[in-house]
Amino acid sequence: MPLDLYDRVSRVIPPIEWATMAEDAAAILELKRQRRAVILAHNYQTPEIFHGVADIVGDSLALAREAETADADVIVLAGVHFMAETAKLMNPAKTVLIPDAQAGCSLAESITAEDVALLRAKYPGRPVVAYVNTSAAVKAASDICCTSGNAKKVVESLGVPEVIMLPDEFLAQNVAKETAVKIIAWKGHCEVHERFTPQEIEQLRVTHPGVVILAHPECPPEVVAVADFSGSTAVMANYVRDQKPARVALITECSMSDNIAQANPGTAFVRPCNLCPHMKRITLKNIRKALEEMQTEVTIPAEYFAPARRAVERMLAVK
Ligand code: 13P
Ligand code: SF4
Repeated sequence: MPLDLYDRVSRVIPPIEWATMAEDAAAILELKRQRRAVILAHNYQTPEIFHGVADIVGDSLALAREAETADADVIVLAGVHFMAETAKLMNPAKTVLIPDAQAGCSLAESITAEDVALLRAKYPGRPVVAYVNTSAAVKAASDICCTSGNAKKVVESLGVPEVIMLPDEFLAQNVAKETAVKIIAWKGHCEVHERFTPQEIEQLRVTHPGVVILAHPECPPEVVAVADFSGSTAVMANYVRDQKPARVALITECSMSDNIAQANPGTAFVRPCNLCPHMKRITLKNIRKALEEMQTEVTIPAEYFAPARRAVERMLAVK
């Protein structure tokens, strides 16, 4: 077993578990060198991917930014399909691979470009802000993208009294509480975050006195209302790094706590969490296979490319 490689994960993966992973991880590192590839991994990837083989990790916003400047011939997106599409939009000259093309997202699947056209007809003149968790076709039908890390800034950057924000109803409602801009929402939900309840949060406070509760803005507003703080996965990670709470609960996907625990040994993580079945489709085995076979390559239909890229670029220009 290459010792330096185990060092990267030794605080989160016991040696007996790593023994089943080491060969694939070592093969991936070698394949990355041969193919001039980088692995961009979302914060919800499992620790052996996040710590073991990824080159860049982050929230959706960071991954979109990094995809624009990645110095490589090949980008492997360890995350879900819309993230790989965004990487391709921002870096069309590079080969973008997703290890499992079925890694979808309940939000991205909740809306089509035709739905966006119907919303525009119903609410004429309102700009359409599309969460980055959408297909390229939906981005192309929208004016600007946002992530949970910049949604309020994006909405306010438009300088209008009312916007359409889709497809996440809860993100839209959570942003609406923080801005004077009126928001017309769609009824999409994240299947991971919609399951958290305020009762669960209250119970945590009873069983773990003093726990600091951070909730992702894809959670229902009633959950965010009883949390101490809300933000994207990167904002949560920064909060724990900077505030160093003695005990924290991250109301989000399960791997999030596993991944940031390594860098925050002074914080105890209470772990009520829900798994994202789409994120969990990505494994060391299929990352290895993706690099061996150069599959599955992500492409964007020509008719969507320019308008979808423009929506992401407009978002990245919002400071
Ligand atoms: P962020 O990492 O941007 O907070 O998004 C969470 C998410 O659910 C991505 O699918
Ligand atoms: Fe989609 Fe929710 Fe999974 Fe993120 S956690 S990929 S929003 S289903």
